[in-house]
Formats: sequence, structure tokens, C-alpha cells
Amino acid sequence: MYSKIDKALENIKEKNAFRQIKTPEISSPSIIDFSTNDYLALAQKTDLLESFYQEYHQVHLTASSSRLLSGNHLYYNKVERKLSDLYASKSALFFNSGYHLNIGVLPSLSSKKDLILADKLVHASLIEGLKLSSAKVIRYKHLNYEQLESLLAKNYGSYENIFIVSESIFSMDGDLVDINKLVDLKRRFGAYLYLDEAHAVGAVGLKGLGLAEEKGLNLEIDFLVGTMGKALASVGAYIITSENIKEYLINKCRSLIYTTALPPVNLAWSYFLLNQISELSHERKDLAKKSKYLKEQLIAKAVEVQGDSHILAVIVGENKKCIDIASRLELSNIKVQAIRPPTVPEGTARIRISLHQKLSYQDLDTFVDNLTITDGN
Ligand SMILES: Cc1ncc(COP(=O)(O)O)c(C=O)c1O
Repeated sequence: MYSKIDKALENIKEKNAFRQIKTPEISSPSIIDFSTNDYLALAQKTDLLESFYQEYHQVHLTASSSRLLSGNHLYYNKVERKLSDLYASKSALFFNSGYHLNIGVLPSLSSKKDLILADKLVHASLIEGLKLSSAKVIRYKHLNYEQLESLLAKNYGSYENIFIVSESIFSMDGDLVDINKLVDLKRRFGAYLYLDEAHAVGAVGLKGLGLAEEKGLNLEIDFLVGTMGKALASVGAYIITSENIKEYLINKCRSLIYTTALPPVNLAWSYFLLNQISELSHERKDLAKKSKYLKEQLIAKAVEVQGDSHILAVIVGENKKCIDIASRLELSNIKVQAIRPPTVPEGTARIRISLHQKLSYQDLDTFVDNLTITDGN
């Protein structure tokens, strides 16, 4: 067994795909950070944390058991009620993380009489959920609505339920799904729509509730997933759905039932932040403006960049080349992530540019000036 592992590690290193958990550097204001999912820079606001501590200084640091035993702190109810208020009275169920949620919900809801149609590029947590489900699963080409439509037309009537699964803002590409199209298809074929808004909640929408809110389609999403660990600067995740689905998940969803609940202090922090997200439209507009500016500057420099959001991606191809670009940027105090397979498809290693609202226009210009894709460019 050990020789097998040594071989596997060697193989990963040969492909320049070896990952390490880095020791964090002391954070310095001179570092220009394009690697965080803290899109609204809420995690960097010390005044916010101070006012939280003043108000919530006695909240416990552990739940000590599952939500279904004694771990369901009062703050779970507050958070879920707040989410329900935000999402037009639909029901909310809170999980330990987006990963827990995505690996648990689809396997609980679907059976072998069902069909799941999922975008090819959905997140690893959703892929685990698809693997754990007993439904038939078909992955359609990324954002290819024609293929999705023909799969729906071909399979309509042959399954008890059909689920369409997509992200709203894709985490590694920064491109957006056309929610209008998905809603139209789900209505025409009587399917259910599962939309992961992990990278949109907080950062997008009038009240920061995601892309579906921005398009006025929140109520059309049967299963809307949001995470607290990105723009919302906390931990945990939620699903917005109907009350009977919520009750069903409480009874059936293993990744909700068989794990220790979140510490009350984290829920209190989530509650504190959820009470503020509607007010952050200035920050959201600023982030969108800066993202657009950066994309324009990169295009002007003839860099091939993709993404239509606060996530942009420069596809480099080779792993080694991608690592070298990130290392060169690091020498100029610019922090980016070189994203390699298996996180992204083979041959599409990329520099993932993840913007946050506190970046200045000068920071963006510095990034553009220092980005060299090929020697001499
Ligand atoms: C699209 C998507 N869904 C779910 C998750 C998992 O969320 P969490 O970090 O809360 O486990 C991620 C995390 O990167 C993600 O990108």
C-alpha cells in the first residue's frame, strides 16, 4: 500500500499537480490579494468584528452534538428565520458547509427512478452528491442549453423526477448561467431546478441574495444553495426550498444528521452578517465596476481572459507554466492561485483572479502591468 502511495505522489509531482497546504504568511497591507473569496472584504473589517464581539461576547464555542440531538442552538433558528425573511418566506435549512449540503441533498431527494442533468463544470461537492445519488446522472456540456433541452425532450416522461443542476456563477471560470433559460426549460419539462449560488450570494443581487434575485427569479428556484464561507465571511451553507422538503431533509439527509452542529458563535456571526447584507449594495456595485475594469484592461493588453463577474480566469493550459506565472506575480507582492487539474479539466490550468471590493484601481493596474503570460509579453 505504501509503495502505491509513493508512486501516486511521484506521479502527481511529475505532472506539476502537487498540492501543499501553505503556512500562512503574516498578512501585509502591501500584498495585493486576488486569491480570496472574501468578495466584499467583510472578513477584513476589524470594526465589524469588534461590534460583533461587543454584542455577542457570551456565545458558546462548541455545539457538542448534532442539530438533531442537543446541538441546535437558538441561533440556528434565528439564522433560518432571517434567511426565510430574505428569500420571500421560503423555508431555509442551514448546514455545516456547502460541501456537506451538496453531498447530502441530491442523494436524499432522488431515487433510481429519477434523472439528474448537471452542467459538466459543477463544483466537486456537487459531483460527490451526484456519485452518492442512485439516480441516473447525465452531465451536459458547460452552459449548453441546446444539449440540455434535447436531453430533457428525450427523457421527459421516462423518469419520475428530473433535476437540473447548475451553479449560477461558476467558481473556476467566473461565467454566468442564463437563469431565464434554465427556468424556461424546467417549466416546459416539469423539472426541478437546483442552483448553487455559492459565489453569487453576498456579492450579487439587489439585496445580495444571488444571481436569481438579480434576475427576479428567486421564487422559481426549487433548491437554491448559498454558502456563508465566501462573500458572507462566515462558515456554513443554506438551502432555500419548500417547508415539506426542509422537513424531509431533516429526516433523511445524512450530512445534516450525522455531524456535530456548528458552534453557536459561528451562527451568531452569520446572523450578524445576514442582518447587514441588504445594505451592501454600494460595495456590490463597486466590486462589479472594478471587475469590469480589470477585464477591460486585460483585454487591452491582449490577454485572453474569461469570466463575467468578480471571478476572472486566464487559461494558461500547462501546469508548470501556470505555476511560473503565479510565482512571478508573487515576487511583485501579488497573490493569485494557479488552479490545476483535477480542480479544472486537464490542459486548462489557469490563473484564477478573484477580486475583492477593497482592491484599488491602482492595485488592478499593478496586476495588469505585472502579468506576463509568455516570456516578454
Ligand atoms: C460552487 C461551490 N459550491 C459549494 C462549495 C462548498 O462550499 P463550502 O466552502 O461552504 O463548503 C464551493 C466551495 O468552493 C463552491 O465553489
